[in-house]
Amino acid sequence: MNFRRLVKLAAVAVGLAAAALSTFVAIGLPGGKTGGAVQVVNAPAEMVARGKYLAEAADCAACHSAPAGAPFAGGLAMQSGFGTIYATNITPDPDNGIGRWSADDFWRALHDGIRRDGQPLYPAMPYTSYRGMVRADADAIYAYVMQLRPMEVANHRTQLDFPYDIRLGMIGWNLLFLTDSVPAASTGSSAAWQRGRYLANVLGHCGECHTPRGMLGQMELSEPLTGFALGRVAAPDITPAGLASRGWTAESLRTYLGRGIAGPDSAFSDMHQVIVLSTRNLTAEDNDALVTFLLGDKPPPAAPLPPADPAVLEAAASGAGRGDYVALCAGCHGLEGNGVPNTVVALRNNSTLRLADPRNLLVAMLDGIGPENFPHRASLQAMPGFANKLSDQQAAGLANYLRVIWGGQKPDVTAAAVRALR
Ligand code: HEC
Ligand code: HEC
Ligand code: HEC
Repeated sequence: MNFRRLVKLAAVAVGLAAAALSTFVAIGLPGGKTGGAVQVVNAPAEMVARGKYLAEAADCAACHSAPAGAPFAGGLAMQSGFGTIYATNITPDPDNGIGRWSADDFWRALHDGIRRDGQPLYPAMPYTSYRGMVRADADAIYAYVMQLRPMEVANHRTQLDFPYDIRLGMIGWNLLFLTDSVPAASTGSSAAWQRGRYLANVLGHCGECHTPRGMLGQMELSEPLTGFALGRVAAPDITPAGLASRGWTAESLRTYLGRGIAGPDSAFSDMHQVIVLSTRNLTAEDNDALVTFLLGDKPPPAAPLPPADPAVLEAAASGAGRGDYVALCAGCHGLEGNGVPNTVVALRNNSTLRLADPRNLLVAMLDGIGPENFPHRASLQAMPGFANKLSDQQAAGLANYLRVIWGGQKPDVTAAAVRALR
């Protein structure tokens, strides 16, 4: 971190501390409690089933389960620019989980980002999106998690850098950034659009990855869903204009969110998880509503692949990129980039190749993609990583070749861009 950024952050920290202190003085700390009776929740089966559906739509398990751990028992380490935050155990274990939490305590965590002991949560828990949840839905999720098997799994301590390790600073952060509703990235008014807005902005918290973040980790709500790279793989622009510019239609989006693969587009990295754990469980009606919201009531027409300049095409076809494609990739993705139905995604007209930012294409090539596990797959096929087989120069040449012939993009990837992602 360079010095100027450090000074800026320090100034912001002092500001946050002052904001926190003033709230502290003005309204006192939100009341908190520890200990107390273990809650016994006897909700009707229908409410528990609805809670399960909503918990899936809200993808609670994605964060509240460690890679090899029990669902909802916590432990997933989330890296932020400010240190590591661990998702907690939310099974009804009285001492490690939320077994003593009432429905009101639970609501306060989802709606206000405040723990039962009165301490603020970090926004790695997306209460910034869940704030829009209706109380009946939060209560149904509560009824569902409270009948899970209690897991005796201790929570990890968060490890944040100063000044972010001061939880109270989050009171200031909430004053600055916690809003009652996240703005819509599309326009519409139909019932499906309204439902879709709730599914995307509140339950599905799509913006937590797809909306750019500011210096203090807040979502830049003036640019909802315009895309952001929190990790190595960027969450692309999924506004109506962004989606249409890469060829997405309502039909392909419905298939993608329901199955993880749609024609020339498959999900990988974090999005694969989102689909497996969350969106593929949506009812057909909710899937349709989500897509109606993404594209708006009047979807823009999907842009066809723009014709490339013949001179650029010829240069691409005779460069080293073509040779590397044939040697390393064509065996699976096909000489003409058409892939293998239900097994290997097509690269011709692939939305990852059509992204202006080459990062996702480069990361897929360098890291490979782990074995996927969609029910529709004929076989479980993984994609190997090519980090050791391709030099920076070769990887850039191959990326440029693919972007030009099947992505309608410019051959502007440099060896330095590849090196930065290794
Ligand atoms: C993107 C990751 C993520 C998702 C999705 C998520 N959580 Fe969390 N949650 C966290 C993290 C991280 C914490 C701990 C934050 C901290 O230490 O301040 C947390 C804390 C909590 C807490 C406070 C528990 C305690 O012991 O302090 C509750 C309750 C909770 N989450 C419930 C839920 C529910 C219910 C859902 C789904 C509706 C959900 N979370 C979805 C990341 C997530
Ligand atoms: C945990 C972070 C995360 C969340 C939450 C998330 N996404 Fe994504 N999304 C990604 C990443 C990373 C990619 C890029 C990888 C890929 O294309 O498979 C992506 C890709 C996509 C794509 C494909 C874009 C393209 O042109 O290839 C669509 C569509 C999409 N997301 C929609 C959604 C919707 C709708 C939601 C909410 C229900 C959502 N995402 C929630 C991280 C996320
Ligand atoms: C052994 C077979 C195999 C080889 C060899 C292979 N791939 Fe893949 N590739 C796959 C599979 C399978 C997927 C789809 C994974 C999924 O469903 O998420 C994939 C996905 C991709 C994606 C993501 C596409 C999307 O829809 O977002 C890109 C980009 C990609 N491959 C590029 C390449 C390049 C470039 C090469 C050569 C350097 C290559 N692949 C070699 C099997 C292969």
